[in-house]
Amino acid sequence: MSDTLTVIDNRTGKKYELSISDGTIKALDLRQVKVNEADFGMMTYDPAFMNTAACKSRITYIDGDKGILRYRGYPIEQLAESSNFLETAYLILYGELPTRSQYDEWVQHITLHTMIQENIKTLMDGFHYNAHPMGMLISTVGALSTFYVDAKDIHDPESRRKQIHRLIAKMPTLAAFAYRHSVGRPYVYPDNNLSYTANFMSMLWKMTEPQFQANPILAKALDVLFILHADHEQNCSASAMRGIGSSHVDPYSAIAGAAAALYGPLHGGANEEVLHMLDAIGTKANVPAFIKEVKVGKGRLMGFGHRVYKNYDPRAKVIKRLADEVFEVTRRNPKLDIALELERIALEDEYFVKRKLYPNVDFYSGLIYQAMGFPVEMFPVLFSIPRTVGWIAQWEEMLNDPDQKIARPRQIYLGLGQREYVAMIKRS
Ligand code: ACO
Repeated sequence: MSDTLTVIDNRTGKKYELSISDGTIKALDLRQVKVNEADFGMMTYDPAFMNTAACKSRITYIDGDKGILRYRGYPIEQLAESSNFLETAYLILYGELPTRSQYDEWVQHITLHTMIQENIKTLMDGFHYNAHPMGMLISTVGALSTFYVDAKDIHDPESRRKQIHRLIAKMPTLAAFAYRHSVGRPYVYPDNNLSYTANFMSMLWKMTEPQFQANPILAKALDVLFILHADHEQNCSASAMRGIGSSHVDPYSAIAGAAAALYGPLHGGANEEVLHMLDAIGTKANVPAFIKEVKVGKGRLMGFGHRVYKNYDPRAKVIKRLADEVFEVTRRNPKLDIALELERIALEDEYFVKRKLYPNVDFYSGLIYQAMGFPVEMFPVLFSIPRTVGWIAQWEEMLNDPDQKIARPRQIYLGLGQREYVAMIKRS
């Protein structure tokens, strides 16, 4: 039996053989399905890409029904347990775990690119005192393209390598500077003697002490959170990265677009929304009434549900465990009890069970971030730092894929046919 799909067009009686590879048919093969020669040919209609593979990828594997997430074949649980963020970043970008010398060289490259141009500080200064740090991050990462004109050389692997180092190294610096601006404190320059996350914490919270001493448990927790958020295959922001990058613009401009996609409350903005929701609920006793409202369509249970996971998000499981370690150092976040009660009730409730709505990565991450001292506005920023790795990996894969072209979806036009222009005086 050949790997084909037979399509019979009942309008014409014609039969078409469409070849199947990797469990898919090529949408372009449907174009041959025509009523007559003048016919454009059959298209598929798939708003929000619910059932369309837009690329072939070897980076991240998700089985949403089973709750599996793997980077380059390695289960997320093992990476969270045994790897660190920069090692995982190398794995995601280059496909293999680094050897000792590859790792040392990689960490050295990232560490040496943490500084940003002084003029970026001037840009930061231009923002209003209460500007959202995500808005500042999106603008300033886009602005980096004006400082690194060599970034336009996207077909040169050496230039790409340099931009990759710069982006991974400078995102924490931009993020920390945005935070310092919002709290009216002087910027803290990177400290290259510290680890990736300890340096980030130093740039956020260092005061007058000669060197910032990050709590090792919190620095490690942040590192694990960064591993969990590093990539998630073709989500909204990764698709934005690929879509924008497909026009061959420089990676800083494309990252600004991807970060903007992440900012939305249905994507990276969800953990901020979770905390607002927990604040609005107020006490554990109010949880049943809140669930009742959600079920009649008055708002959503934020941090629940996922386009792909129809099971417990494996990242949420790791985060829930991490929360205990963090709360041993910080004060227990009082909202945790409300969250646990929400989860308990929702997981038993028919509405959520029937729709396969489980906690996603954002349900508990906000509680940890808040306990660590981050204001809610910083949550999407904290997501953008590690996700930069995924965005760049997706972008490079797209650039090196001979099947890819500039992204350009089709539409079904339902508007009016041609009509004659009417002078204003004659319009009623
Ligand atoms: N609370 C209540 N009901 C929900 C929720 C929720 N969080 N999520 C989905 N539903 C319901 C919908 O109302 C719909 O019900 P219906 O069939 O009766 O109309 C059904 O479940 C399916 O929902 P869709 O919106 O079609 O599912 P989709 O896959 O498009 O949405 C999404 C996924 C956007 C994540 C959604 O579950 C949601 O809005 N969740 C809350 C926001 C959130 O936590 N986002 C973070 C996602 S993880 C990340 O981006 C890092």
